[in-house]
Amino acid sequence: MILVTGATGNVGRHVVDEVLDAGRKVRALTRDPATAALPVDVEVARTDAMPLDGVESIFLNLSVFWTGLGDLLPRARAAGVRRVVMLSSAAALDEDPDNELAAHHRGAERAIEDSGLEWTFVRPGEFCTNALGWRDEIRSGEPVRNAFAGAAMAPIHERDIAAVAARALVTDDLVGATPLLSGPESLTHPDMVAIIGAAVGRPARFEEITEAEAREAMLSRPYMRPGLVDVLMRLRATSVGRPAEISPEVERITGRPGRSFAEWAADHAADFR
Ligand SMILES: NC(=O)c1ccc[n+]([C@@H]2O[C@H](COP(=O)([O-])OP(=O)(O)OC[C@H]3O[C@@H](n4cnc5c(N)ncnc54)[C@H](OP(=O)(O)O)[C@@H]3O)[C@@H](O)[C@H]2O)c1
Repeated sequence: MILVTGATGNVGRHVVDEVLDAGRKVRALTRDPATAALPVDVEVARTDAMPLDGVESIFLNLSVFWTGLGDLLPRARAAGVRRVVMLSSAAALDEDPDNELAAHHRGAERAIEDSGLEWTFVRPGEFCTNALGWRDEIRSGEPVRNAFAGAAMAPIHERDIAAVAARALVTDDLVGATPLLSGPESLTHPDMVAIIGAAVGRPARFEEITEAEAREAMLSRPYMRPGLVDVLMRLRATSVGRPAEISPEVERITGRPGRSFAEWAADHAADFR
C-alpha cells in the first residue's frame, strides 16, 4: 500500500494515477473525502487521521505538513513503513540561511534522513501550475503583470514530477536519490503568457511592472510572507538575461522527454477560459 498525502493536489492526483497504473494499492489522504473526487479504486482517508497500517511507502507533500512533520516519522517507523518519497524543491540546494523556502524543505529532508527510513527527495524547480495564478487576468483580458520580464525559468509539468515520484515509490531505483527536476525549455513570463494565449485561442498579454509594485501585489495574497517574497524576487532578479538550466532527470528516470509548456497550456486551456 502506498500512502499519498496531498492526494488532491497538483502533483498528488497524478501520483495516485501513476501508482494505480503500476498495479499498486493507494491510500489517498485529503482533509475532505466528500469533495476529493478521487478514483473509485483508491482507499480514501482523512489527513488528520493519517492511518499508517499496512503502508509500505509514503508520498509526502509538505503543503500538508506546513507547520512541521510532528510525530509522523517515528509513527511511520513503528508502523513498519519502509520509505518516504518527499516532494521537496530545487530551493533545498540553496544554503543561504535567509532563504526560508530552502530552510523549510531542507529541514524536512534532514529529519527524514535522520529517521532511519529509506528516502527519495524529488526536487523540482518552478511548477507550470504557478501560471494558474494568472487565470483571472487571462480570462478577463487584463495583462499579466510582474517585475523582471527577462527572468528565465524552466517550468515543469506536474505530471512529470508525479511520474518521477511514482518511480521512486514503486521501484527501488531512486532510494537515496535527490533528482533535480526542470521542464525541457527555458522561458520567460512573456513567453509563457503568449503560449497560454495560443492554447486558449485568444491573445494574452504581459506587462512589466517595477519590483516595488510586484512586491506589493505578491504581499496582498493571503499565504505570502515578506521573507518568501524576498526569496522569490531575488530568484527573478538573478534569472534575468540568462537561460534557465535544463535538467536531464525527467527523461533519464521516466524514459520520456519532459512535457513542454505548450503541452501544459493545452492540458489546462479550460482553466483560462
Ligand atoms: N509551486 C512551485 O513552484 C514549487 C516548486 C518546488 C517545490 N514545490 C513544493 O510542492 C508543494 C506543492 O505541491 P502541489 O502543488 O501538488 O500541492 P498543493 O496542490 O498546493 O497541495 C496538495 C494538497 O494538500 C492539501 N493541503 C493544502 N494545504 C494544506 C494544509 N494547510 N493542511 C493540510 N492539507 C493541505 C490539499 O488537499 P485537501 O484539500 O484535499 O486536503 C491540497 O490539494 C509545495 O508544498 C512545495 O513544497 C512547489
